[in-house]
Amino acid sequence: MPTKQAYEIQPAARMENVRYAIRDLAVLADEVARKGNKILYLNIGDPCKYDFPTPPHLIEAVHKAMRDGYNGYADSLGIRPALEAIRGEAELNGFQNIQSVFIGIGSGEVIDSCLTSLVNPGDNVLTPSPEYPLYSAVLAKLGATPNTYALNEDNDWQPDVEEMALKINDRTRAILLINPNNPTGAVFSRKTLEAVVELARRHNVMILADEIYDKLIFDGERRHISIATLAPDIPIMTFNGLSKSYLVPGWRIGWAIATGPREVLAPYLESTHKLLRARLSAPHPFQYAIQPALEGPQDHLKVVREKLRRRCEVTAAWAAKTPRVKLVAPKGAFYAHPSLDIPEDDLTFVKELLMQKHVLVVHGSGFGQKPGTKHMRIVFLPQEDVLGAAYEKITEFIRERY
Ligand SMILES: Cc1ncc(COP(=O)(O)O)c(C=O)c1O
Repeated sequence: MPTKQAYEIQPAARMENVRYAIRDLAVLADEVARKGNKILYLNIGDPCKYDFPTPPHLIEAVHKAMRDGYNGYADSLGIRPALEAIRGEAELNGFQNIQSVFIGIGSGEVIDSCLTSLVNPGDNVLTPSPEYPLYSAVLAKLGATPNTYALNEDNDWQPDVEEMALKINDRTRAILLINPNNPTGAVFSRKTLEAVVELARRHNVMILADEIYDKLIFDGERRHISIATLAPDIPIMTFNGLSKSYLVPGWRIGWAIATGPREVLAPYLESTHKLLRARLSAPHPFQYAIQPALEGPQDHLKVVREKLRRRCEVTAAWAAKTPRVKLVAPKGAFYAHPSLDIPEDDLTFVKELLMQKHVLVVHGSGFGQKPGTKHMRIVFLPQEDVLGAAYEKITEFIRERY
């Protein structure tokens, strides 16, 4: 009998640079929880974990699709009624020159496919700092060179477009905008968006517009503007999906809308479609929720926005009176990204907070923040009493530790 040898399967070298701090910390949280501690989770952007129930008519639409036998693979780009609903809503909102719409396994897969068919090793995409880390994880996998521009905390977390201009080079394939923003909760102004459009036009680079939180703006002053509506003449991929606005992140339904000149986009879209065909399809019955979501009652959104507005207020009021914490008030999404004036790094802060006070937030360094700065990202989805209890513990922690 051959002897059984212990050996390790080594991961590919490209995995060295792939990081996703939001879920990585959950491993430590599990350890703390196993010891019998009750953890207050302010770390994951999943509304279904809190008091945001899925609209029942969407559940019914998926049930019906399953009962009606739509349980096989779907068309690779998505089912027709859903594609038409996405296109119809976009056109109503002012999108022109729509060259393709396709549905994926969450916007996450759509983003991965769009980057994979765009970026060669050594290319770069201008990504924001801080950033939702899916993009850097996928770009690292593709061998792209990191290239970031700052979101300016002193200017309401708006992108620094002048810095963007300095960072564009001959290997830059696209500029990424996440608006409304994760992790800062910022909503970008028309002036900012117009400046980005002008830059993309001047340098012939494409724009990737992640607008997954577009319906979750709770600041009465700000309205969401899709950058694609400002520039039908430049190639733009707009990402969106059901996860956040329609409260079904577990259904894994997202999409992309490609706008711009047909002849410019054609080879790129054909290659992206090829990749989508290779992975067969997005989940079939869940796509039947898209049309009722976009065309049916939107009542839940009012309730969601009102809850978010109040929870954001509680967060801002706490930050205003807490030593060492400074917050630019969020206007959309459900994230707050206060800076921390502390003598140690923010990962240590977050881990110690978790172990000592059982509150879980994510460290700013997990979002590629500006070097030298320290932050934590708070998800303010939980109910006000949970938020209140968590904030009390963070204040206690800060007072005791510094
Ligand atoms: C900015 C942003 N884009 C994309 C996603 C991915 O969403 P999904 O894959 O559920 O559509 C998230 C999830 O948190 C996000 O915050």
